[in-house]
Amino acid sequence: MKLSVIGCGYLGAVHAASMAELGHEVVGVDVDWQKIGLLAEGRAPFFEPGLPEVLTSAIATGRLTFTTDMAEAQGASVHFIAVGTPQRKGEAAADLSYVDSAVNALLPYLSSGDLVVGKSTVPVGTASRLVEKLNGSGADLAWNPEFLREGFAVEDTIRPDRLVYGVPEGEGGDRATALLNEVYATAIANETPLVVTDYATAELVKVSANAFLATKISFINAMAEIAEVTGADVTKLADAIGFDARIGRRFLNAGVGFGGGCLPKDIRAFAARAEELGRGQSVAFLKEVDAINLRRRDRVVELALDALHQEPLGKKVTVLGLSFKPDSDDVRDSPALDVAVRLKGLGADVIATDPQAIENSRRLHPQLAFEETTAAALTGASVVVLVTEWSEYRDLDPSEVAQLAPAATVIDGRNCLDPQAWRSAGFTYVGLGRP
Ligand code: UGA
Repeated sequence: MKLSVIGCGYLGAVHAASMAELGHEVVGVDVDWQKIGLLAEGRAPFFEPGLPEVLTSAIATGRLTFTTDMAEAQGASVHFIAVGTPQRKGEAAADLSYVDSAVNALLPYLSSGDLVVGKSTVPVGTASRLVEKLNGSGADLAWNPEFLREGFAVEDTIRPDRLVYGVPEGEGGDRATALLNEVYATAIANETPLVVTDYATAELVKVSANAFLATKISFINAMAEIAEVTGADVTKLADAIGFDARIGRRFLNAGVGFGGGCLPKDIRAFAARAEELGRGQSVAFLKEVDAINLRRRDRVVELALDALHQEPLGKKVTVLGLSFKPDSDDVRDSPALDVAVRLKGLGADVIATDPQAIENSRRLHPQLAFEETTAAALTGASVVVLVTEWSEYRDLDPSEVAQLAPAATVIDGRNCLDPQAWRSAGFTYVGLGRP
């Protein structure tokens, strides 16, 4: 099939490359010529394992092209809208201006029988508003949310764990479903679960999935707060409740909390949308989820200050990790970067490092000092704060670190180190919600 993907950020670039990999002919469109320039050369504008390989191989087949010219979307039978929906400045609600601009720009190039497919995360009610814009174009609209995780984005797109189509009632819905089944023929053949529903449900599936994940993380972080005043161990608690298949162990890792370009802004936008709908109370708990999450960052800063006897000025604090999670260079709303900036603001001599996210961090916070290597970052540290659990930090050998930063306090902001091993090597080990 011939497809266009409007918006070549995280979602769009991965979607375009993966669809071409699956055999479709794809044109990726974005207004950012620098991004398009990189993608056209097979280079990913961000760090995502496996993406450069898929880009290169798909471009080599001639099935994948990138352009800033929307006219090149003409002739595609399915057009994916994959632009960002960031949090509005100074507000909780989502900024839909990129979605509206993308649809407006695409309109002149639509032909009768085309299908426009929204993939961006949007407040419920957006699709039924956008469908009005398509009136007269002869094109149908479907909403097809995306559940990819950064770090596993290509795999999640090629082999999704479910497909959700929000389609209109009647013949338009049948046409949309048939076209989407053709787009996702490989996943359908592999018996991927498929839910075909209305627009509102499809939009809500996406935000409620992220709200649930955020709530699960904040739940265990709330237990960590209780563990901290009772001497209990939240990691053992998570193991024990996680054995209950109804609860499950995944997303029960207590630590410095969630960040990134999705979970934080999605729960805020959801709460704001619920208020607009007169149902603010129904998701009022999301404000508490957000508050618990942000308190964990305060807690890590507090633990570092305690380790420095409340005198951070000029003391060397090493921050291990800057991205919001491992295997990503994304620092959007990153708890790790936030902790580094706050400690620096308190006067500590912060040295931060990360395998991939230094460049993005430096752009946002040029006042921070960075070291490229873990060893250089660790040398002479009074306090080591591990805030992103990259495997190279999880696998650090405490006896080797003891040569570089003897007698440091190690604050394990992700509860990913073995307390016993670090204490035996002479460190003061402090976890979150661990005795
Ligand atoms: C999230 C969802 O998991 C995806 O399904 C969704 O498609 C995506 O948002 C999106 O809306 O685009 P992602 O932001 O890549 O994916 O990251 P997650 O793996 O969900 O992690 C989010 C944050 O939670 C990270 O900061 C991570 O460190 C933190 N986390 C995760 C915890 O603190 N504890 C856990 O147990 C798990």
